[in-house]
Amino acid sequence: MSLVKYNYRQIVDDIIGNANIVGKVCLDATCGRGNDSLKLLDKIGIKGFLYACDIQEEAINSTMELLKSKGYENFKLFNKSHTEVFDYIKEPISLIIYNLGYLPKSDKKVVTEADSTILSIERGLNSISKDGIIIVVSYLGHEGSFEERAALEKFLSQLEQKEYMVEKREFFNQQNNPPIVYLIGVRK
Ligand SMILES: C[S@@+](CC[C@H](N)C(=O)[O-])C[C@H]1O[C@@H](n2cnc3c(N)ncnc32)[C@H](O)[C@@H]1O
Repeated sequence: MSLVKYNYRQIVDDIIGNANIVGKVCLDATCGRGNDSLKLLDKIGIKGFLYACDIQEEAINSTMELLKSKGYENFKLFNKSHTEVFDYIKEPISLIIYNLGYLPKSDKKVVTEADSTILSIERGLNSISKDGIIIVVSYLGHEGSFEERAALEKFLSQLEQKEYMVEKREFFNQQNNPPIVYLIGVRK
């Protein structure tokens, strides 16, 4: 794969591919159709464990179907908000992914929202392992997306630099507001 990426999936694949998560615990905080969940399970393997959540039952059913069809059993899905899912996870989490926005091929009015996204990331920062990483993919265009992006950037830009590393990866010469990927790591 080229070192320079042209879409957000390549960035996410690169991070997951290089992350130290084999046999570890991960969380897909917006599981949708289960594509990110499957990528994580393919990487962590059968000795790892995946938690995933979504507020829509349709998303949970899609993800369940996809992961079962690939033979995985080492996961647990929650039909709950990513603000609540941390109540059920007791282990440190090595990687958390947020793919913000709406469920593809579904109601575009059901979207992630600024306040709950920030609250969830705050909770994620308390649950992430010392060498862990949080990936946030942010899109623009749908209702509330500009407000969510602004709140996210304000929050991330104010994270204490002695404690956290925050990277923003964007496609500088692409038209029509391409997605931005934010990466958060814990400084040792
Ligand atoms: C862009 S989709 C996720 C795509 C997914 N990761 C995939 O690989 O198919 C965003 C998802 O976030 C979900 N969502 C919205 N608000 C949420 C919340 N508070 N907690 C968890 N999921 C939420 C939506 O229902 C939608 O399925």
